[in-house]
Amino acid sequence: MGSKEILDFICKRRSVRRYQKKAIPDETLELLMKAAMAAPSGNNAQPWEFVIVRESKIKEDLSRVHPWVYMAAEAPAAIIILGDKSSEWWKEDCAAATENLLLAAANLGLGTVWCGIKEDHARAVRKILGVPGHMGVLCIIPIGYPAESPSPHTKYRKDKVHWDRYSK
Ligand SMILES: Cc1cc2nc3c(=O)[nH]c(=O)nc-3n(C[C@H](O)[C@H](O)[C@H](O)COP(=O)(O)O)c2cc1C
Repeated sequence: MGSKEILDFICKRRSVRRYQKKAIPDETLELLMKAAMAAPSGNNAQPWEFVIVRESKIKEDLSRVHPWVYMAAEAPAAIIILGDKSSEWWKEDCAAATENLLLAAANLGLGTVWCGIKEDHARAVRKILGVPGHMGVLCIIPIGYPAESPSPHTKYRKDKVHWDRYSK
């Protein structure tokens, strides 16, 4: 892919919330892990860990953690991104890993949606997955081959950019 195509590709990524029933090969999921762990990391601490869930019952339980993560039940897989809270940059690092994963998934023809998890809901996620308390939960990413294709939207706004000094 040339530089123009890469830019277009990044700008075209959309959240996908409906998926085909088709399973995702383990090798494909492993490729996504490689992309996620290629992210930048404060002090290079790499505090991230990932749980890849394919079992229906666990996905259903996750889909009820809050009202906006319902798509985890129907997705063939859900990836939960965790970070060791003893690392001061765990949220930033895990967010960078998440975006890498979303873009890598889109490149492999997969649809994803970043479902944020706040501390109130993190407790429930930890309980469902058996995650120890020192691990923070950044998000749940339902993932599957898309059954919808939202059209690209332009988010670029010139007024959000300031040159040299902040000016309104
Ligand atoms: C921190 C964060 C939390 C989000 N949480 C949810 C969520 O719980 N459920 C959901 O359907 N989408 C969620 N989204 C996806 C946003 O709704 C989506 O990115 C936004 O509407 C822009 O659409 P796009 O991703 O198609 O460009 C979240 C995104 C971020 C970055």
